Amino acid sequence: MAQIAPSILAADFLHLEKDIQLVNRCGDIIHLDVMDGTFVPNISFGFSVIDQVARIATAPMDAHLMVVHPERWVEKIAKDGVKMCSFHWEAAGRNTSRLIERIHALGMQAGVAINPDVPVSRLYPYIGKADYFLVMSVFAGFGGQKFIYETLDRVAALRAEIERRGAKALIEIDGGVNLGNAQTIREGGVDLIVAGSAVFGAEDPAAAISALRGA
Ligand code: DX5
Ligand code: ZN
Repeated sequence: MAQIAPSILAADFLHLEKDIQLVNRCGDIIHLDVMDGTFVPNISFGFSVIDQVARIATAPMDAHLMVVHPERWVEKIAKDGVKMCSFHWEAAGRNTSRLIERIHALGMQAGVAINPDVPVSRLYPYIGKADYFLVMSVFAGFGGQKFIYETLDRVAALRAEIERRGAKALIEIDGGVNLGNAQTIREGGVDLIVAGSAVFGAEDPAAAISALRGA
C-alpha cells in the first residue's frame, strides 16, 4: 500500500503543532518542502520551522530540498533527525552520486528528485545508489497545481528500469494529488504519495489521508 506524506507547505502555520500532530497520528511521513527562491520562484521555510517541527515529530520526516546548493544543508537536516532527504538532480548535476553518499554517511535515506521537463532517464545512473526517487508531478515551487498525467508514464519507465537492473528503490510522487486522481496514481505503482492541499485544505484532513491511501 502506498504511504501518504502530507506536505506541511499547505498546513496552517498559525497552528502548525496541530497539523504536525495530525500527521503523527494519521499520516505516514511528514513532507518538508524547502524552497530557496532561486532554484524555484518561491520561498517556503527553513530551519526556524524545521527545528520546531522536529521537536514534536514522531512520524519520520522527509525533506524535499528545492535549493541550488543542497550539499550546504544536509548536515543540519540530519541533525534535526530527518530520515529521508531528497534533492534535485537539476541542482546537483554531476555531484549527485557524491551527495547521495554524503546523505548516507549522515545516516539518512537519499532521494533524487526531478521536475517534469527532465527526462526520467537522467535518474537511471543513480539506480542502486539512491534509496528513493521523487518524480515531480507538477513543477516544483508551489502547492495547489494541477497533476501532470504523463508523470505516470515516467513512473512506469523508472519502475521497469529499476526491476530490469534487479535493484530496489522507492518511487515518490509529488504535486497535484487529490481525492479524484489518487486511485489512478496508486495504480500507477508509486510507493510514497505527497499531498499538501488535498490534506490540509480538506474539511476533515484525517479522512482525506485515509481516502488518499485507499483505505
Ligand atoms: C511543490 C512541493 C509539493 C507541494 C504539493 O513544489 O514539492 O510538495 O507541497 O502540494 P499539492 O499537494 O497541493 O500539489
Ligand atoms: Zn515536495
